[in-house]
Amino acid sequence: MAAQFAAAGVLTGLLALATFASCNTEGDILYKQRQAWEDPNNVLQSWDPTLVNPCTWFHITCNNDNSVIRVDLGNAGISGPLIPDLGGLENLQYLELYDNILNGSIPATLGNLSNLVSLDLYSNLLTGAIPTTLGAISTLRYLRLYENNLTGSIPPSLGNLTSLERLELQKNALNGAIPSSLGNIKTLQFLKLNANMLSGTLPLEVLSLVIAGNLTELNIAKNDLASTVRSSGLRVTAIIQDKLKTT
Ligand SMILES: *[C@@H]1O[C@H](CO)[C@@H](O)[C@H](O)[C@H]1NC(C)=O
Ligand SMILES: *[C@@H]1O[C@H](CO)[C@@H](O)[C@H](O)[C@H]1NC(C)=O
Ligand SMILES: *[C@@H]1O[C@H](CO)[C@@H](O)[C@H](O)[C@H]1NC(C)=O
Ligand SMILES: *[C@@H]1O[C@H](CO)[C@@H](O)[C@H](O)[C@H]1NC(C)=O
Ligand SMILES: *[C@@H]1O[C@H](CO)[C@@H](O)[C@H](O)[C@H]1NC(C)=O
Repeated sequence: MAAQFAAAGVLTGLLALATFASCNTEGDILYKQRQAWEDPNNVLQSWDPTLVNPCTWFHITCNNDNSVIRVDLGNAGISGPLIPDLGGLENLQYLELYDNILNGSIPATLGNLSNLVSLDLYSNLLTGAIPTTLGAISTLRYLRLYENNLTGSIPPSLGNLTSLERLELQKNALNGAIPSSLGNIKTLQFLKLNANMLSGTLPLEVLSLVIAGNLTELNIAKNDLASTVRSSGLRVTAIIQDKLKTT
């Protein structure tokens, strides 16, 4: 009798497990994103929501646990918005959506992608502000949002990204000051902020990354900055500032 109850218990457990395994949360998120996009080149044709998971879909890579770790859709001709649900792809490491026609704003929920290494949204038509929440992604090494139409100021929270190697925000419509917190990013190699509407001076904390950090390219040209930078150190390939005002 006890054995029968135990067997029934195991069976119930297995059924619960099977039900759990069949729920395809990540596939549902990506399929919802597919439906929000225009896809004139049919690059998303293989995104079939009836499959058990999205791991066989083109442009998607999974880990051994069938969880999505890469979305590779650079230069794919897709247009439309980024849906906030994307923040639910909890093991995502690479979100490569550069060189498309994406519009709307960058969802704040992307800050929940706590395993993200690379966020490449450059060369799109994105508008609105850079979400403060992106500063929570401590694993981020590449944050490239250049050539969009982003507005507002650079969130000081980005200074919490202490693994970041490339921060490329050039060719947007960003204003306000360059946050001194960016000087916390000792790993930073490329900092490109050129062709925005930034004002104030380059914080010494940031300049110090050139002298005492890994920063080899600092481009702050074509902004509204007051003069600060004139020197270059040994490892420095370029500090580019074309608008030197003497104050
Ligand atoms: C994005 O582009 C589409 C197509 O041009 C347009 O209908 C939509 O309103 C745009 N959305 C935003 C937020 O600009
Ligand atoms: C994700 O991010 C948003 C906005 O930053 C937040 O409201 C939400 O609670 C977060 N968590 C989940 C699981 O979506
Ligand atoms: C960027 O936004 C401004 C103001 O909304 C607009 O005038 C301009 O045409 C936009 N540029 C691009 C490349 O979309
Ligand atoms: C991130 O940075 C902001 C501004 O620099 C700071 O106020 C905040 O406490 C930081 N958050 C974390 C989690 O370190
Ligand atoms: C330069 O970056 C490496 C990792 O990429 C890091 O270990 C090192 O501490 C950084 N240099 C400085 C001066 O922080």
